[in-house]
Amino acid sequence: MAGKLAVVVLAAGKGTRMKSALPKVLHPLGGRSLVECALDSLIEVDPAHRLVVVGYEADQVRTALAHLDNVTFVEQTEQLGTGHAVQQVLPHLQDFEGDLLVLNGDVPLLRPSTLRQMLEVHQTRQNEATLLTAQFLDPTGYGRVFCNDDDVVTEIIEHRDCTEAQRQNRRINAGVYCFKWSALSKILPELKADNDQQEYYLTDVVKDMTPVVAVDVDDAQEIQGINNRKQLAEAYSILQDRIKDEWMTAGVTFLEPDTTTIDITVQIEPDVIIEPQTHLRGHTVIGSGSRLGPGSLIENSTVGKNATILYSTLSDSQVGDGVRVGPYAHLRGQTVVGDNCRIGNFVEIKKSTLGDRVNVAHLSYLGDATLGNQVNVGAGTITANYDGVKKHPTVIGDRTKTGSNSVFVAPVTIGPDVTVAAGSVVTKDVEADALVVARAKQSTIPGWRSKRYDQSDDTSA
Ligand code: UD1
Ligand code: CA
Repeated sequence: MAGKLAVVVLAAGKGTRMKSALPKVLHPLGGRSLVECALDSLIEVDPAHRLVVVGYEADQVRTALAHLDNVTFVEQTEQLGTGHAVQQVLPHLQDFEGDLLVLNGDVPLLRPSTLRQMLEVHQTRQNEATLLTAQFLDPTGYGRVFCNDDDVVTEIIEHRDCTEAQRQNRRINAGVYCFKWSALSKILPELKADNDQQEYYLTDVVKDMTPVVAVDVDDAQEIQGINNRKQLAEAYSILQDRIKDEWMTAGVTFLEPDTTTIDITVQIEPDVIIEPQTHLRGHTVIGSGSRLGPGSLIENSTVGKNATILYSTLSDSQVGDGVRVGPYAHLRGQTVVGDNCRIGNFVEIKKSTLGDRVNVAHLSYLGDATLGNQVNVGAGTITANYDGVKKHPTVIGDRTKTGSNSVFVAPVTIGPDVTVAAGSVVTKDVEADALVVARAKQSTIPGWRSKRYDQSDDTSA
């Protein structure tokens, strides 16, 4: 391999302290896994090679990253430490002559600019190794970085291997390094595992390289590693603050930002207002002027401009401009709602397509349905789409009005301009412009109570 910069992300560890069946690097943080966060922090350094060391549940990690191009997986069958992990890339970078950036897969909050700046320092000063450090108030668990006065690193000692005096050093190793590959590749095979964990530590290489320079990050939060659920929660909250700050700068109003969560994968146009207790997840896009919440959950969905989504849930769905949803509506399963529709109280819509200006105002279920424009769906209209084995479609034409409490037993097609009488159970197709009444005729028996009253009078005689 030739090229200036290669990157290796260490993602083979189990993450014992997470107490989880899921490999640590696959735990999600705001819409991406930890290892995806690490890979995304590379956008400004644009490496020629991206290597990911996998081991524990390697197939799961491979599958989770399968959507990424230009990633080579390197297997570390036994997890014998971070140094051992980097040793595994040796056969892959035999003719490589540039620099190797090493990232721990459990450091998800790095800013792309931080990596770029570190690389610039590394290359202009021609260091053999450069590493990111920070002063932590509570450095427990991290490797401590010992330097001479000029930030030249003399040694890195893991927390558990430190003496009590060494633990007073609050300068910690972030697990983010840049190495001159020609120097590192010579030292790597020599690593020894003489430490408390009997692991091959990558940090030991600094003893044999010169110069090794420590660069403090401006914002110590960036290099927070994730070893347990508490750190995962802290990182999530840091990420949330960042995401919401960015959207506020971009013209989005939050009425109570602390009660709202937004995945990194969400896109929001200016002049959107986000009310309390609203959560935006996955690949969601919100058009300008829309008002979301209070109390809405929108995931993998697109909302048009000037829409309102009040106390409702949208998943894998799309609603057009000027649509009013809620309170208490649930749209799911690739539902597509046209412009200026109204989806009201206690309405569920699944895998259905609605044209423009459709009203489904109260208490309805539409599943596998296709509605034209300006359809008025009466209160309590239900599509009976499931026969116990298969789902069937219902088609309703433009301007048709369904009466309250009508049931469409699918498959069934109703033409345009149809009027469906309230309480109908429609089992057969209906042509355009028809009135359909599919219910028992009303029969009225006059004088019912008074007759009974007369009879009871007779028997008492
Ligand atoms: C490591 C550093 C420590 C630093 C900290 C920062 C070493 C010896 N220590 O400690 O100085 O302060 O990160 O977060 O490097 N991994 C593998 N294969 C292995 C072992 C680990 O791929 O055999 C991966 C893990 O999946 C993880 C990363 O390497 O993504 C770091 O491993 P972890 O065990 O969390 O190291 P720390 O003890 O946190
Ligand atoms: Ca760690």
